[in-house]
Amino acid sequence: MAKKLKIALVGYGKMGKMIEQMALGRGHTIVAKIDEQSGISDWDAVNEADVAIEFTRPDSAVSNIRKCFDRNVPVVVGTTGWYEALPEMKDLCARTGQSLFTASNFSIGVNLFFYINSMLAKAMEQMPEYNVRIEEVHHTQKLDAPSGTAITIAEGILAELSRKTKWSLSPDSSSEADLQIDAVRKDEVPGTHTVTYSSVVDDIEIRHTAHNRSGFAIGAVIAAEWLHDKKGYHSMNDIIGF
Ligand SMILES: NC(=O)c1ccc[n+]([C@@H]2O[C@H](COP(=O)([O-])OP(=O)(O)OC[C@H]3O[C@@H](n4cnc5c(N)ncnc54)[C@H](O)[C@@H]3O)[C@@H](O)[C@H]2O)c1
Repeated sequence: MAKKLKIALVGYGKMGKMIEQMALGRGHTIVAKIDEQSGISDWDAVNEADVAIEFTRPDSAVSNIRKCFDRNVPVVVGTTGWYEALPEMKDLCARTGQSLFTASNFSIGVNLFFYINSMLAKAMEQMPEYNVRIEEVHHTQKLDAPSGTAITIAEGILAELSRKTKWSLSPDSSSEADLQIDAVRKDEVPGTHTVTYSSVVDDIEIRHTAHNRSGFAIGAVIAAEWLHDKKGYHSMNDIIGF
């Protein structure tokens, strides 16, 4: 049975609210909530927390991580779209003896999908007749494109498939060596990711469809349970390494 934790929620939007439900359901307590839109900024209460869970917006994540580090509070970050600063944050985490967990997607199913995606890309290295592209579909309020999940999928393919050298947000590039990502925005879609390999004779497709946000929320709480007594940088592979 996991230890009952005192959790700080940094960001109390769609995800923060769902994480609260999941955390309470697992016997944890919410000791602090920070949210810009609701005007709640009680960082003093965060000092009391065993762990913070951060789901805000791309331009807020780095300063929120720093504020958690300043308070010696381990932080699980779900916000995407800020990963150009991840190396700097990992470095700061190591130098200052703090604890950081990030995941572009906390759903167990998506992490299984990442694994299948890598295996498929490895096999496709031998099949030059297939081209590959990624499509991600999300709700219209999503601020970053392509999604952090699509970028992780792209990185999995680029690590295995030598005929692709970098990813590119469609239609920015027409280079054959670019791995195209289509980012589609539609009302109310929690997140759908499709990888398609196409040849002249057929298509092979793998797809993950999130039915709601609860898979992300429960994954974030499990990450918090896992991180609260550890130091250093961690990600989903540390919890579910295949
Ligand atoms: N990693 C995952 O599994 C996963 C899953 C879903 C969403 N996300 C990401 O999580 C983030 C949040 O998603 P959401 O659906 O909850 O968005 P949302 O817009 O519903 O909520 C974001 C909340 O953050 C608050 N906020 C903004 N700046 C802040 C700041 N500086 N300090 C405190 N609060 C601040 C806003 O007031 C808002 O209530 C997005 O980046 C989204 O892409 C990640």
